[in-house]
Amino acid sequence: MEIVTKAPTKAAPRHFLDLDRLSAVELRRMLDQAAQWKATQDRTPLLKGKTLAMIFEKNSTRTRLSFEVAMRQLGGDVITMTAAESQIARGEPIADTAKVLSRYVDAIMIRTAAPAKLEDLAANASIPVINGLTDASHPCQIMADVMTLEEYKGPAAGKIVCWSGDGNNVATSWIHAAVRFGFELRLACPANVQPSAQALAWAKRENGKVSVMSDPRAAAKDADCVVTDTWVSMGADPKLFRPDLLAPYRVDEALMAHAKRDAIFMHCLPAKRGEEVTAGVIDGPQSVVWDEAENRMHAQKAILAWCLA
Ligand code: CP
Ligand code: NVA
Repeated sequence: MEIVTKAPTKAAPRHFLDLDRLSAVELRRMLDQAAQWKATQDRTPLLKGKTLAMIFEKNSTRTRLSFEVAMRQLGGDVITMTAAESQIARGEPIADTAKVLSRYVDAIMIRTAAPAKLEDLAANASIPVINGLTDASHPCQIMADVMTLEEYKGPAAGKIVCWSGDGNNVATSWIHAAVRFGFELRLACPANVQPSAQALAWAKRENGKVSVMSDPRAAAKDADCVVTDTWVSMGADPKLFRPDLLAPYRVDEALMAHAKRDAIFMHCLPAKRGEEVTAGVIDGPQSVVWDEAENRMHAQKAILAWCLA
């Protein structure tokens, strides 16, 4: 009798780690799927019997809730764990956590500070791993953002997006998206909080239309969409929070006036009115932040289906 010592090898899991690591075709398909399911209010239980584990090492409102609802709408189940109350906080290697969770659930979403931890998890899991934000990027957010841009402005390709403020993790995923979805991205950021040099170099190699400028008005000129984010990201060095340097990059009514007349305003939220954006803009007629927040759920349904179905 043949002795079987190893389980049969399975296909490599489909991780959703960053937009630069996925093809434009795959990302396009996900957004088309998301838009279709949103339009038809589809409730096909595509992921019936599947469970998503979510690990949070940082706070969350939207990511946690939108993933939970997305998974449930697809007929699946969710388990949420904060790292603080798990053995991760006591130093259990993330590789061991990955191997154990791979025996219990069908996919893992993690929000963590260190991108290396996300990589370690993905490298050691036999199931898909989804990036729910690291200090380096926030790809699920930008899938929702591009979906929102397209709802208001039509195909993203050829559009102009202006980022004004901290060149942070969200800005990096915008850089990746600009290349993958073919729109122009102009980032206006103070010198002390410039966008990721690595992401910019990648965009250049990919012939993306991504530029960094110091004047937010130049960046906003004729833009279809103006975006910003908090000046102080979770876990950011407070020394980098320099209101004197960031104030000129605040998105206010005067900056919006440089964009197209029908330009939209987006913000991943949570927002600080009076810091990175004025109340007049975020609560005004050009703001689409609530649609943007809703689209987290729709975009993530397509991401989950791509990973699991
Ligand atoms: N935009 C976003 O990721 O929000 P949460 O931090 O609330 O998840
Ligand atoms: N840049 C922010 C995004 C929050 C969703 C942060 O990392 O805190």
